[in-house]
Amino acid sequence: MNSVIENLLNDQVKYEASASMQYLAMASWADVKGYSGVAEFFYAQSEEERVHMTKLVKFINERSGKVIVPQLEKPQGEFKTLIELFESFLKSEMFVTEQINHVIYECLQHKDYNVHNFMQWYVTEQLEEESLARTLLDKLTIIGDDKSGHYLFDRDIISIAAANNQE
Ligand code: FEO
Repeated sequence: MNSVIENLLNDQVKYEASASMQYLAMASWADVKGYSGVAEFFYAQSEEERVHMTKLVKFINERSGKVIVPQLEKPQGEFKTLIELFESFLKSEMFVTEQINHVIYECLQHKDYNVHNFMQWYVTEQLEEESLARTLLDKLTIIGDDKSGHYLFDRDIISIAAANNQE
């Protein structure tokens, strides 16, 4: 594998791992605050990102590349509000999308159509996840400071997420 592409895929392993840990920290924050639905949502998101990471690790190995399991920075563990939590979620997904687009750009530059093809799965995932993050943030923006709205959001988040993913 071209070393530029190999390095980029290893960077992507780190971004997916970081997202997984960040969402775990978010789940834990929500759990402690009593938002059990939001916690369940982020525990599941954390697992998903771990799957994204492992898929990359296996792919690099299959292509006889060298996987570098990364050291991660400590994730943000405190949030002032649910809106701040979900703004951070959207920001994280937008960052990952940007990085994936960068990998794809470099694949084309280096004519690595195999990795380009593999990365299409991530493009689709990112479309779904960004759309979900925007949907949830839009709902919270409408709710504003309304406590009963937060209660309903927490109760309904799993079904909102499921409906969004079916669209
Ligand atoms: Fe796998 Fe949503 O980044």
